[in-house]
Amino acid sequence: MKTIEDYWDKKFKEKGHIWGNEPSKSALITESFLSARGFKKGKILDIACGYGRDSKYFTDNGFDTTGIDISAEGIAMAKKQYPDVKFMIGDILHLPFQTSSFDYVFGNFILHLLLKDLRFKLIKETSRLIKPGGILVFSVASIEDVDFGKGETKDTNCFVNARGVMKYYYSKEAIYNEFKDFEIMAIHDIEEIHDHDGIHKHKSYLLFVRKRNGRND
Ligand SMILES: C[S@@+](CC[C@H](N)C(=O)[O-])C[C@H]1O[C@@H](n2cnc3c(N)ncnc32)[C@H](O)[C@@H]1O
Repeated sequence: MKTIEDYWDKKFKEKGHIWGNEPSKSALITESFLSARGFKKGKILDIACGYGRDSKYFTDNGFDTTGIDISAEGIAMAKKQYPDVKFMIGDILHLPFQTSSFDYVFGNFILHLLLKDLRFKLIKETSRLIKPGGILVFSVASIEDVDFGKGETKDTNCFVNARGVMKYYYSKEAIYNEFKDFEIMAIHDIEEIHDHDGIHKHKSYLLFVRKRNGRND
């Protein structure tokens, strides 16, 4: 059976720097969100970093950054292009880091690729990793996205699109529900035009959350 690693290795081999080399909008907004509010440039974990464009951006902006991704191909591309950044191959559902070892966890376009149980697992696992008062940042597909409702239904608001990608599409209500144990600091609306697999526009939310009680257990 084809694994998730196989899927992404093949994608990166065939399409290279599929989303370009510029940082994502989510990374740009995250950097300005944190600096505008006076948060320090601390340790950030870029989960599912792909070929590392956002890890590079955070590093260049003074963060102590680690990028982790399950795709050996993505990580090889990242290490080759950005030798000054720390990258490692790994599964974000089994993160090999100690509790409270990061100030921030950033995940661009990963949470919505998981089914409900695994989304909860990822939220719990990343919450374990942030220090008290630390912030989780996720960008997730919105129910207003162009692909919403297209393809085979997998679960409520969850579809496998024509490109074979399964996505869960969040409403604001679903965000408040899945992050009910957290303080929602902000939810930004994001629009991005992609030209891989034909031109298409994605609508997503970028959320900043932290534990209400400052604890991570
Ligand atoms: C949509 S891409 C986003 C890449 C990157 N965040 C960016 O914006 O450039 C999703 C990434 O998630 C990675 N991924 C999927 N499942 C994973 C898992 N369980 N553990 C680690 N990485 C995973 C894939 O290899 C792929 O690089």
